[in-house]
Amino acid sequence: MLTTALTRALAIDHPIIQAGMSSDCGAKLAAAVSNAGALGTIGSLGRSPEDLEAELAAMRSATSRPWSVNLATFDWAPFAGTLVDVAIDARPPVVTLSFGDTLSVLERCRAAGLQAVVQVQTFESARAVVAARPAAIVVQGSEAGGHTGQRGTLSFAAQVLDIAGGVPVVIAGGIADGRGLAAALAMGASGVLMGTRFKATPEFGGPNTRHLDAQRDAIVANDGDHTLGAEIPDIALGMHWPAGIISRVLQNAFTEEWQGREEELRAEVARQSGPFAWTGAHNDRPENMLNWAGESSGLVGEVLPAAEVVRRTLAEAEDHLRRAGSLRA
Ligand SMILES: Cc1cc2nc3c(=O)[nH]c(=O)nc-3n(C[C@H](O)[C@H](O)[C@H](O)COP(=O)(O)O)c2cc1C
Repeated sequence: MLTTALTRALAIDHPIIQAGMSSDCGAKLAAAVSNAGALGTIGSLGRSPEDLEAELAAMRSATSRPWSVNLATFDWAPFAGTLVDVAIDARPPVVTLSFGDTLSVLERCRAAGLQAVVQVQTFESARAVVAARPAAIVVQGSEAGGHTGQRGTLSFAAQVLDIAGGVPVVIAGGIADGRGLAAALAMGASGVLMGTRFKATPEFGGPNTRHLDAQRDAIVANDGDHTLGAEIPDIALGMHWPAGIISRVLQNAFTEEWQGREEELRAEVARQSGPFAWTGAHNDRPENMLNWAGESSGLVGEVLPAAEVVRRTLAEAEDHLRRAGSLRA
């Protein structure tokens, strides 16, 4: 057992959080992770309010352990604010927040008596979030899969550890095994958050996930050198994320075709109407899929059940921490 300020704050057994990964991760993955003693998370981005309500209900009947719902706190769709209402009204054990105006939603969670964990991408926002005293702060480095900022994980995490003032610090971005967890704990962090590793599980995927097996296989095949942090995915989807936020996806024929030609892609997409219309109509092929995953793909050698990911990560971390302890004379 690795007991930290995070496990104590969230009443979980293991200092591991599974990232919310849009509507591609629901109760199936989150319950598997929570039932294994870590914190499972339902993603909300891309869901309708009704869909989120159904997933929250499924989660309640799938586990009695703590779990969380992830909210992307900017107006990515006209009903984005409604999802915040739905999530808070459901009174989940934990809410994880990222991107945009996390602080006002943090205050709403606090007023509702809910634990909130906030993910940050810059040191400036880390200062503001630490001052607001969430249950934990997640430092997200740019190696991360999905949407992310521009800071490398290691120096960013060290800076936030310096100012955390007792708020548990969780490290995200590039962590996919027990070596990463051991390194995070050795630095003084209280846990890790992993997305890419949990994407390569049989429990990942939702009703709208396209080319699921091909996505997982591509993560397993990727050596970690072939990811791209870029605006291309959001341009293709017609989405507008907060300033400074990019997408990290696996490189493929689509990213190669449009890298450096972002304005042409924007013009091409603008000729179509409605979000997701262009990718659905013109780009929906496995070789072109938008496959959000990070540099930690290079550490993912096989698709594994989520509970096994938790078990192996923990066992490896304990082993590495024991060995690190023996370095001292
Ligand atoms: C497929 C995928 C989808 C993601 N979607 C979200 C999301 O909806 N909300 C969010 O806060 N973070 C999202 N993220 C980012 C994660 O919160 C996390 O920071 C990241 O996965 C950590 O880096 P790693 O991928 O190297 O583990 C996503 C990540 C991935 C891989």
